[in-house]
Amino acid sequence: MREFTFHENRLQCESVPLADVACAHGTPLYVYSAGLIRRRCREIEEAFGSREHLTCYAVKANANRQLLHLIAEQGLGADVGSGGELELALGAGFAPERVTFSGVGKRDDEIVLALGHGVSAFNVESAEEMEVLSALAVQHSCTARVLLRVNFDIDAGGHAYVSTSLKHNKFGVPRQHAAGVLRRAAGLPGIEVRGVHSHIGSQITNRTVFLSAASAIVELVTELRSQGIPQHDVDFGGGFGVQYHGVLSHPALPQEMPEGGAHDPTTVLRDVLPILDETGCRVLIQPGRAIVGQAGLLLTTVLYRKAMEEKVFVVVDAGMNDLIRPSLYNAYHQIVPLVVGGSGTETVDVVGPVCESGDFFARGRRFPVVKRGDQLAILCAGAYGFVLSSNYNARLRPAEVLIDGAAVRLIRERQRLDQL
Ligand code: LLP
Repeated sequence: MREFTFHENRLQCESVPLADVACAHGTPLYVYSAGLIRRRCREIEEAFGSREHLTCYAVKANANRQLLHLIAEQGLGADVGSGGELELALGAGFAPERVTFSGVGKRDDEIVLALGHGVSAFNVESAEEMEVLSALAVQHSCTARVLLRVNFDIDAGGHAYVSTSLKHNKFGVPRQHAAGVLRRAAGLPGIEVRGVHSHIGSQITNRTVFLSAASAIVELVTELRSQGIPQHDVDFGGGFGVQYHGVLSHPALPQEMPEGGAHDPTTVLRDVLPILDETGCRVLIQPGRAIVGQAGLLLTTVLYRKAMEEKVFVVVDAGMNDLIRPSLYNAYHQIVPLVVGGSGTETVDVVGPVCESGDFFARGRRFPVVKRGDQLAILCAGAYGFVLSSNYNARLRPAEVLIDGAAVRLIRERQRLDQL
């Protein structure tokens, strides 16, 4: 990750020392690298070669208006999961014809909003939603272009809360119902069937799972065509895993091994696209984490180093309300001091100030010895970080800063108490 590097012993984002940013803006603070977001967009686009395609950034991963604007500028489309995300995406400059609308529980008013804006496609999740969409489209004298989200009953691995394509999950229609639902949809007024959609989970690092999903799609599209159901687009979803372990190294830091598996969406795409090519369809994808995950850090300051009988706790000023991934999914985030020195290492739990024992960022982690006032970076917090923050314990949502080369821009002010 060349956008985040240690210069001697100080961590920099692009050409800015992060300790300076933490001092200027306070902590907890989300910091993003514009250069890394641009690079990820470019790498993904290049993986498609000359194929007709549409990469729709999954807005749910990080919906900061300035980041959306940056991603729209790279020529990507957007996938939205609510009316709110749709408004943000359009406001940030994504053209409606490059926006898809996904989600298992679209409200009528959200559907009407999306119809009014003329979004590129609805990824429909049930037979009932298809009927509702048809009725609303007729009522508003427009046509809804639809893809049917299919649940292929594929085990993508990872945490149960982010698995989406097992038959006991709420998402999509069962594979064996897909043709029936689409046959009926093709005859519904106000509906134009465009193809099928699949999103099998998130932080998927098993390449085989993607290959299985691609093959399942090809088989289904072939079957649908043979039944006279038109197929123009295939939406392969998101879920491309990124590396969280051992992202940064320095001689003064305990060594961390990068985890095994597929952590580069572009290599996954290079495997999967030739399979999807067999459909002859335009391919859409919806990556979120792969674009912004590694591009964001959460900066925090050590409040106390607390030695208990059995453990040492490093209590920091960020909490589970700022970044919930460790508490919610037991997710791993590498943590590094902004200034590394030769103070030795110890085993600690890094915890927040919130009134819950589940409020932690690291447990039993080998870590440089730190003291009150030291600043730390929790890495790879760009996706599902700020968007999942809350006001628990009346804690104010953190500020967000975007770094581009040597430029530092505040892209969201720290929340104030009068906004609660
Ligand atoms: N498309 C759909 C329909 C989705 O539901 C999602 C994510 C994506 C695309 C983007 O997936 P990505 O490429 O970012 O994996 N909060 C969890 C992840 C939840 C993912 C929800 N859906 C986490 O922090 O790990």
